[in-house]
Amino acid sequence: MTNQRVLMTAVGSYLPANVVTNEALSSFVDTDDAWIRRRTGIAQRHLVADGETTSDLAYHAATKALANAGLAGGDIDLIIIATTTPDNTFPSTATKLQHMIDAKGAIAFDIQAVCAGFVYALDVADAMLRSGRGRRALVVGAESFSKLLDWEDRATCVLFGDGAGAVVLELADDAGDDAGDWGIRSSVLHSDGAYRDILYVDGGPSSNAAVGHVRMEGKEVFRHAVEKLASVMDEALSAANMQAGDIDWLVPHQANVRIIDAMQKKMDLPSDRVVRTVEQHANTSAASIPLALSAAVDDGRIKNGDVLAMEAIGGGLAWGAALVKFGRPL
Ligand code: UT7
Repeated sequence: MTNQRVLMTAVGSYLPANVVTNEALSSFVDTDDAWIRRRTGIAQRHLVADGETTSDLAYHAATKALANAGLAGGDIDLIIIATTTPDNTFPSTATKLQHMIDAKGAIAFDIQAVCAGFVYALDVADAMLRSGRGRRALVVGAESFSKLLDWEDRATCVLFGDGAGAVVLELADDAGDDAGDWGIRSSVLHSDGAYRDILYVDGGPSSNAAVGHVRMEGKEVFRHAVEKLASVMDEALSAANMQAGDIDWLVPHQANVRIIDAMQKKMDLPSDRVVRTVEQHANTSAASIPLALSAAVDDGRIKNGDVLAMEAIGGGLAWGAALVKFGRPL
């Protein structure tokens, strides 16, 4: 029997040049740096410039990931972009990216699971590669989330930022690949639409034909996040027959440093084994995990062969976790 595994062989990311600090924000929003830092851990966020789109962010992240993998667009068979802020209602942002990177013949589509989008896209790509839909995939989380913000609502507008991250997945299905326990070890997803009203956008093509703004009951979402992320991580560990102690790095969704700290305690991980980028990036929705992963790979913390635990929750509610042994056997 062949040992079929999906490896995560490279990562790349991109942040728009425009940095907006809490101080700068408080010149036009009724807020202050101390409140934002204390309640969320956020110090700044990157925001897209006029005319800069989600596909632009995705393109920069994807080309870096491809370069890091030593691949060209034409080597890619599948492109999935997790985004809630597509350039257009249709076509998908993924088909735009397909054209931009010249990935002729690749299957390309978007997935919308808001902040959980990256773990959803990873799971779908893993299943598609293992079922024979190609050998190499680009999974991208890309968001211009600032386009959904109501700048009069201080309870939400201070929380989010824009950016993109991308990973290259490669199928290793030949016993000669010796893929062993590398690649995606487990992935667990959940959704519960009973909670659709605690985090949503009050617009959309079939409701009012508007783009709409983010609305959130922050305390409720916080409560669900702490509880559901801990339980889905337990499920992912059990599905991979692993313990929290086997994890080298927690690479969590970056919504609030207090949620991240709660997960660190629950998993009993040392603080320096948790990647935190929320201070610099704020919450970039589907982009936050690959952005954090890219930061820690680029600065040398995450190395080939390290075991990563990723988790996220967002509107839906939709949530999930994935365990990955990063890189490839040398
Ligand atoms: O990625 C998707 C998942 N999203 C999340 O995981 C977000 C989860 N929720 C959270 O992170 C937190 O609930 C928030 C950061 C959104 C809010 O923190 P909180 O500790 O739950 O604060 P709160 O909403 O209960 O607000 C407390 C106070 C209120 O004042 P009063 O009523 O106590 O006088 C707010 O008006 O803080 C006030 N407040 C602010 N003050 C200054 C709310 N937003 C701000 C602000 N600046 N930006």
